[in-house]
Amino acid sequence: MRETINVPQAEIERQREFMRLVEKLPERPHSYHIVSMGCQMNERDSETVAGMLEAMGMARQPVREAADLILYNTCCVRENAENKALGNVIWLKELKKDRPELMICVGGCMTQEKGMAAMMKQRYPFIDLVYGTHNLYKLPEYIYRVITEKHPVVEVMDIDGEVVEGLPERRKKHFSAFVNIMYGCDNFCTYCIVPYVRGRERSREPEAILAECVRLQDEGAQEIMLLGQNVNSYRGGGAAFAELLYRVDRLGIPRIRFMTSHPKDLSDELIHAYGELKHLMPQLHLPVQAGSDEILRRMNRRYTREHYLELVRRLRGVCPDIGLTSDIIVGFPGETQAQFEETMSLVREVRYDAAYTFIYSPRTGTPAAKMPDDTPYEVKSERIQRLIELQQAISLEVLEKQVGTRQRVLVEAASTRDAGSVGGKTPRGHMVNFPGGPELIGTFADVEIVSAGRNTLRGRRIIQDG
Ligand code: 5AD
Ligand code: SF4
Repeated sequence: MRETINVPQAEIERQREFMRLVEKLPERPHSYHIVSMGCQMNERDSETVAGMLEAMGMARQPVREAADLILYNTCCVRENAENKALGNVIWLKELKKDRPELMICVGGCMTQEKGMAAMMKQRYPFIDLVYGTHNLYKLPEYIYRVITEKHPVVEVMDIDGEVVEGLPERRKKHFSAFVNIMYGCDNFCTYCIVPYVRGRERSREPEAILAECVRLQDEGAQEIMLLGQNVNSYRGGGAAFAELLYRVDRLGIPRIRFMTSHPKDLSDELIHAYGELKHLMPQLHLPVQAGSDEILRRMNRRYTREHYLELVRRLRGVCPDIGLTSDIIVGFPGETQAQFEETMSLVREVRYDAAYTFIYSPRTGTPAAKMPDDTPYEVKSERIQRLIELQQAISLEVLEKQVGTRQRVLVEAASTRDAGSVGGKTPRGHMVNFPGGPELIGTFADVEIVSAGRNTLRGRRIIQDG
């Protein structure tokens, strides 16, 4: 873990000056649309981008085709994410034929891949701005240059290790907020491109994090999600993650969650926190990736199946009702049928509430991409299908157990499926839909669970007397 180096406030001021300058340019875009791909980290970055664009006088345009500026915040963790981003970019070329004044910006993890920015510059000259993950804070300066110099700007920096504080932001939801606590990853799991595109681990100062939480609390946050690629290796101002969590808990925000945790770094203190902290929700995303020791070793995960299962037992010892979720990769190079069966048996043993399952996708530049892989894609497909079916059956059983219980739900949105219904999460993170109006969004509702579906629960609101 690196020492925290903040981007100097003078530089942030400089960028704020560019925001003011862009706002004064008559030919600037007046509306923006952001397409955020990938993980919560990207979503949080998109909130900062939105804040900067609004400080430049642009208004959010919900219809992509109608916006003056379209920005793609890309992901590259798997090949399909990358193909989707590139496919979108090609489609933008057509759009620009009709609307030459349209400004197209592409940022995020994909642009940070080796050789990608150069390729984009050459093959997609209609893109006005390409920037990376380490220079997002310079967006105002780049947009100013695109407008005034009238040619594309392609700037991706290799250096990393800085933390940026004090940029504007436009939060998606005021009642439930993401708070970054650390950036980057030093784990180098052999399949993963994240350490190459997000850089080395660096943590924000606890004071900056706490100040942000207090501000969000003042603005009405009922739930905080602390974010990092590997929050367990957080070390800011000498404080470990569990310490930070205790301090955040004391602020009194009703719900605290965090992600993502690496099993090798899950400390005893953090496990105890589940028994002690009032506001920490009984939910943990603890990606296992595979159930075979040999595959875990080749993935460089640095824990064994037994160590992982022991963590699960201890977590449930402290917090019997904890909801666990996972990420699982199927078809890692050389994975045998027997090794895959070990993943299946681990899933049966742990009984996750939910699991995100992926077929291994080779990423150029990662060690696993050079490992021999003779398993046909059809076999991998069959494996993942079986895993998905197993997990669906378990998820359904877990949800059915909730029927008849009373749950406090933080209402997030109007239900897209049922008119007159709203949806939100229980403490354990289960999604519940129940009849109710949009005035409930952002508030807590007490709900009795009446039935369980494949991924969601249905409930009935309990109106208490008095
Ligand atoms: N192929 C498939 N899945 C991957 N993940 C990361 N890299 C790859 C890859 N190359 C998955 C891991 C990780 C999640 C965010 O994405 O399961 O936890
Ligand atoms: Fe990728 Fe592993 Fe880091 Fe997660 S812990 S971001 S899977 S390298």
